[in-house]
Amino acid sequence: MEQIAITGIAAEGKAIAKYNDWVVFVPFVVPGDVVDIQLTRRKNSYAEGRAVHFHKYSEVRTEPFCEHYGTCGGCKWQILPYPEQIRYKQQQVTDNLTRIGKVELPPIAPIIGSKKTEFYRNKLEYTFSNRRWMTQEELQSGETFDDMNVLGFHIPNMFDKVMDIKQCRLQADPSNAIRLEIKNFCLKNGFSFFDLRNSSGLMRNIIIRTSTTGEIMLIVVFFENDMEKITALMQHLADKFPAITSLLYCINQKANDTITDQEILVFKGNAHIFEEMEGLKFKIGPKSFYQTNSEQAYELYKVARDFAGLTGEELVYDLYTGTGTIANFVARRCKQVIGIEYVTEAIEDAKVNASLNGIDNTLFFAGDMKDLLNTQFIAEYGRPDVIISDPPRAGMHDDVLDTILFAEPQKIVYVSCNPATQARDLSRLDVKYKVTRVQPVDMFPHTQHVENVVLLELKV
Ligand SMILES: C[S@@+](CC[C@H](N)C(=O)[O-])C[C@H]1O[C@@H](n2cnc3c(N)ncnc32)[C@H](O)[C@@H]1O
Repeated sequence: MEQIAITGIAAEGKAIAKYNDWVVFVPFVVPGDVVDIQLTRRKNSYAEGRAVHFHKYSEVRTEPFCEHYGTCGGCKWQILPYPEQIRYKQQQVTDNLTRIGKVELPPIAPIIGSKKTEFYRNKLEYTFSNRRWMTQEELQSGETFDDMNVLGFHIPNMFDKVMDIKQCRLQADPSNAIRLEIKNFCLKNGFSFFDLRNSSGLMRNIIIRTSTTGEIMLIVVFFENDMEKITALMQHLADKFPAITSLLYCINQKANDTITDQEILVFKGNAHIFEEMEGLKFKIGPKSFYQTNSEQAYELYKVARDFAGLTGEELVYDLYTGTGTIANFVARRCKQVIGIEYVTEAIEDAKVNASLNGIDNTLFFAGDMKDLLNTQFIAEYGRPDVIISDPPRAGMHDDVLDTILFAEPQKIVYVSCNPATQARDLSRLDVKYKVTRVQPVDMFPHTQHVENVVLLELKV
């Protein structure tokens, strides 16, 4: 398709163009670009494609800051200036709440942008592979490339292809230095990089976690149990990076990458790092969830607490509490908080975090929300005055919404990472609740993701 004008941004971060009756989704372009598109997929009402030639560059376009832009799946929006990115996110929230929610809305507050637009993540995971992703230029160069070992990010939708990362601008140093040192050490010493198709090789993944307290956790995941090589690498890292306060490793011989069911061993330092917020300490183990943009998590939690309007007398339910961060964050401003979450280890962390901070008015329960939160639970632990809910992208299950409607809290603070499912749930709650405040928050610059906090108040 030739000379096609890009006209908008779609929910999933790709840009859109119109062609006859079709909507065409195209990555790595922005509204205002005029391009030739090669179709990669065709359905009845829409198509997907990629820009193969630019006739005109949009006036809003900016230079990408990352050398991996265009191949790496992260930071897709870096060709849009940040003010444009958050304008689209604000629009995304408005569109979802009005078109899907169809509920009466107050004015939507201007989105809270992220002060840091680079190096804002506190956690990154890199994968080893012996099948390096080759760029178009490399393939067309006719050169032969001997070294196919890489340590980097998966190419979107290709489980066995990994692109080599030279510098990632998502996590502050020494994140890049650690990754590069590990790769060099493994290459120099002939350590085998993982073969994702045949499940073989020594080196599998690394996970780097940083914190606003300055602590650093590194988890090196091996596939083979070769203690001589494992010790050599871990000792080298301990010597080279004394700043790592929690140096861990794991031997994962399963088919999949997740380490939540694996034993994590301490090579040096502590088994955890700490994150801090308003003097509260949060202990983060290698398997614990913590919001990946710490500074913006604080902004988000302040909005949620402000919307809850606590006086010290309330019983608060914190649904989908994770490691109890919101529950502990609001605990000092209310009578009691009950946190519910289905990951048992997260609930254990939540309890540890409460006691670490001398908080004794929280109760935490592990279980699937739709099973645990029912009329019996409410009868036993009391009707909440305020419910704070921060569900996963899928939103809340119908049974959970029914129980909330039965419980009739005065206020519901609904924190969401997916305004589309949030809008759907708001329309279900509309029978008894009125939306009185809406505050979008940007946690992930250069991506299409947006968080949105909504306050619902019981209709009189
Ligand atoms: C968006 S996170 C919220 C985390 C937490 N509020 C925070 O800020 O750190 C959603 C949480 O819901 C949990 N979860 C997902 N589905 C669930 C379910 N059916 N029942 C209970 N918890 C669930 C996930 O494990 C995750 O911890």
